Amino acid sequence: MTPTPATGRVVLVGGGPGDPGLLTIAGRDALAEADVVVTDRLGPVAAIAEHAPHAEVVHVGKIPRGPFTPQERINEILVEHARAGKVVVRLKGGDGFVFGRGGEEWQECRAAGVPVEVIPGVSSATSVPALAGIPVTHRGLTQGVAVVSGHVAPDDPRSDVAWEALAAAGLTIVVLMGVAHLGAIAHTLVAAGLPAATPAACIMDGASPQQRVVAATLEQIAEAAAAARIGPPAITVIGPVVDALDLP
Ligand SMILES: C[S@@+](CC[C@H](N)C(=O)[O-])C[C@H]1O[C@@H](n2cnc3c(N)ncnc32)[C@H](O)[C@@H]1O
Repeated sequence: MTPTPATGRVVLVGGGPGDPGLLTIAGRDALAEADVVVTDRLGPVAAIAEHAPHAEVVHVGKIPRGPFTPQERINEILVEHARAGKVVVRLKGGDGFVFGRGGEEWQECRAAGVPVEVIPGVSSATSVPALAGIPVTHRGLTQGVAVVSGHVAPDDPRSDVAWEALAAAGLTIVVLMGVAHLGAIAHTLVAAGLPAATPAACIMDGASPQQRVVAATLEQIAEAAAAARIGPPAITVIGPVVDALDLP
């Protein structure tokens, strides 16, 4: 009798903002079971050696304006290894379903008939501000938060963020992937009526020993960030919550 081939599977693990201590217990357990780990540069890469020392590691991290593995190829890698009977962990930074293309990977696995499960992670969108002493909501200051991508400039036809509406929404605005367009984003928000004196902060390399925070008014945040050489990965928080805890 021909032996039945082992069925592999894919586990999409949100790895948190980079500090291995912020990887969930479920994520850690998934790593311990992995035959193959397909990883991003923003994930807790140090956790792989500790929890999956014998797994094959495939690096597919995207460096802004640098080398990267196209998403289509990442999808193929996941499916190929799972079809070979492997337990594949796709380790991503933050939460894989927050600007992480985890939904696309899930769809590709399902379309290929590969079992897939999701382990949510601690998103940088809330954790990196928290680690810088900024609560993204705070009673009496704001009743909500909008997390948006600044990957394309507000006047780019590919942008579908309603920046003018955000300026009037009374929400904390958390911008991911927005360093390159910070000046244009701030200008658009001020032109749409958000006060130029609104507090803002950029946090670079959050959850790491290199973490740096630059705070300024919305009008001045792009200049202050450039002067401090803030670059990706960085998060910008805009709103009164930036000053909520009155940190030095
Ligand atoms: C492609 S998005 C991935 C977001 C991720 N899925 C999450 O939930 O955190 C990458 C962006 O997340 C933000 N980011 C992720 N990790 C960060 C960190 N440790 N420090 C600062 N920003 C970070 C930056 O804005 C970066 O450009």
